[in-house]
Amino acid sequence: MSEIEDPGQLLEQRYGAGAAPAVVAVPGRVNLIGEHVDYHNLPVLPMAIQRSIRVAYRVRNDRQIRAASTVFGDRAFEWTAQLEPSAAGDWVNYVKAAAQAVEGKWHLAYGIDAAVVSDLPPAAGLSSSSALLVAFTLALLRANDVQATFEELMEVLPEGEYFVGTRGGGMDHAAVLAGRQGCALLINFAPITVAPVPIPKEWAFLVAHSLSNAEKSGAVKAEYNSRRTAGTRALVKLRLASFREAVEQYGVEELKHLAASRLDDEVERRCFLHVVTEAARVARAAGALERGDADEFALVLNAGHASVRDDLRISCPALDRLTEAALASGALGARLTGAGFGGCAVVFCHAADRERVAAGLVERYYSKHSGFDPAVHLMVATPSAGALFT
Ligand code: GLA
Repeated sequence: MSEIEDPGQLLEQRYGAGAAPAVVAVPGRVNLIGEHVDYHNLPVLPMAIQRSIRVAYRVRNDRQIRAASTVFGDRAFEWTAQLEPSAAGDWVNYVKAAAQAVEGKWHLAYGIDAAVVSDLPPAAGLSSSSALLVAFTLALLRANDVQATFEELMEVLPEGEYFVGTRGGGMDHAAVLAGRQGCALLINFAPITVAPVPIPKEWAFLVAHSLSNAEKSGAVKAEYNSRRTAGTRALVKLRLASFREAVEQYGVEELKHLAASRLDDEVERRCFLHVVTEAARVARAAGALERGDADEFALVLNAGHASVRDDLRISCPALDRLTEAALASGALGARLTGAGFGGCAVVFCHAADRERVAAGLVERYYSKHSGFDPAVHLMVATPSAGALFT
């Protein structure tokens, strides 16, 4: 993603020689199951991956924050108590979001000079934007000698993202912070807890890009946010206090019946159906993972894709064709991963079949589309450690 691979080198190049910089590395994540439910405080099951954003930084003795990227350009701003967002889509908004998030809780003294290098494709549903926010948050805190706990970080990070305009949940931040090597992470919200679940060695995941971009800070933002509000409106109409209460109190069939009989608005009904069925799928998938039941796990993944395609409607033809191509190539399961509206699919297969599935994807999907770069668009996703465990 960047010609310079060492963020320390970029830092020196831009801001001059000086004390050896510190480096923070934050991985991306791929969500295995539990899509568009974290913001309703329902559990999700992602894993951190081996690709990451790395930020080299040096503390300054004033309140300037300067950030260099060979890909996105260099930025600088004064770290005031109330920061104004820059133009929509500008990457500096994630740096400002980090500064704003930590300011409210820790009142830090000093800004930083920083340089960013990444091998995590942006706008792909792999959480590059949250990784950037988390990386700058950790850099600012560490530069000011603050060791924040996971729980403290989770108090400020999801809200921090609102600065950029996306009303997402806490899945991405939790996964990229607290992921464990070799494991998926079962995340519960309110209060936040994480439980690493080992992934059997015989299982493999590929992340395949649809070549259709999911630009979350762009036009798709409103679509993303609208799924959240539709689900919440459905809850209110059903006089349910929360989705958590709903799934704890009623079975899936009861909830489906409730939706069919009491929700007139089609969008609200479909969003509600997705959320309550997805909650059941996360529980089933976590059980299947613990037992090493690949067939059951795959069934759940495939049902998850059908739900985001038909009920939540966040898929797109490219992602539907891609998941079909994966299954036709010998994958056990495939579903879109992340916010949707483009981006990546997660493809699940036996480790022994990985090469065959990847080759099949090239033949059945990528050979028919232009712009395919195997180094960027098709990768093996290795369950990796989050930023707090590296
Ligand atoms: C984005 C958000 C997450 C989550 C996913 C969808 O990645 O940042 O909080 O809502 O979309 O599951």
